[in-house]
Amino acid sequence: MSRIVVISGHPNLEQSYTNRLILARLHQRDDVSVRDLATLYPDSRIDVAAEQAALLAAEVVVLQFPFYWYSVPGIMKQWMDDVLTYGFAYGSTGDKLKGKKLVVSTTVGGPDESYQAGGYNQYTMEQLLFPLHQLSTLTQMDWQSPVISHGMVFIPGVYNTQELVESRAEQHVERLLAELEGRLPSAPVVELMQQWFAMLDQLPADPEVYLPFMADNVVFEVPEGRFEGHAGFVRWYDALLGQFQPGLSHRIEQVSAAQTETGYCTLAFTVTVSGTSTGGEPVSLTVQERWQLVEQDGVLQIQHYQVRLP
Ligand SMILES: Cc1cc2nc3c(=O)[nH]c(=O)nc-3n(C[C@H](O)[C@H](O)[C@H](O)COP(=O)(O)O)c2cc1C
Repeated sequence: MSRIVVISGHPNLEQSYTNRLILARLHQRDDVSVRDLATLYPDSRIDVAAEQAALLAAEVVVLQFPFYWYSVPGIMKQWMDDVLTYGFAYGSTGDKLKGKKLVVSTTVGGPDESYQAGGYNQYTMEQLLFPLHQLSTLTQMDWQSPVISHGMVFIPGVYNTQELVESRAEQHVERLLAELEGRLPSAPVVELMQQWFAMLDQLPADPEVYLPFMADNVVFEVPEGRFEGHAGFVRWYDALLGQFQPGLSHRIEQVSAAQTETGYCTLAFTVTVSGTSTGGEPVSLTVQERWQLVEQDGVLQIQHYQVRLP
């Protein structure tokens, strides 16, 4: 029995550059079963019993589709209309999907920046996915962060290259698998990271503003040395102020998170720092970071902070 069922809504995978690749990677996993609707039902006559059985057997449902006209392709809409019936998916006894995780995984032609107020697509992806989010609510499913990749159109000789869209498809699979395996950090962890790096961008003169973000016995293992406790942090921070001018930019990538048995959360990610040194030279370097976080009275704090040069 597959833990994860992937419903593919691509109408013609033979002509796909991205969904085909994403599905091929998913196929390789033992815990995934892929239902390619267009191949299973070339005449659009959906086997409702088989589809409902596949949903019942799964803990996680992934809707994998190319974004067509701001929505799902027709075959996937048909699947919803036929399979998510009263008494099965909704209604007083329709609780068969209750508690199953729903992951929307979609490839989008238009660029990220077009999906915002003032952009040529006007609305954000979050807004355009509201109907699916509400489908999840009505069917009592557990809505997960959607996995969305932009710039996925390849028109030979006109728009993008095959290599580019294929590499975006590979990245899409990695993000989808991270979502499925719970390797992505939770919202409070993301917020802590954002606040921390926003402060490091500004490099405020007073190190006190950082202290609420770290445990009393915090340890920093950084290229400048090993620093312990708040006093240790203040010494390391002084060294940073001596190296960089305020106005840095920190780009965070490849974040993975793991919860340890002892209640810690471990984060691993890559940071690219760009800015200007105190000597006026442009600086750009990429480092690997590993953090261990601990929850203290409901507040997340950094316990261990490691920076490694590649
Ligand atoms: C019928 C159709 C409708 C499309 N509608 C949209 C759209 O509304 N917004 C968008 O950004 N891209 C749109 N696209 C581009 C697709 O999202 C893009 O081609 C697809 O994600 C690429 O996946 P594939 O390589 O697996 O075919 C559309 C493409 C087609 C063929």
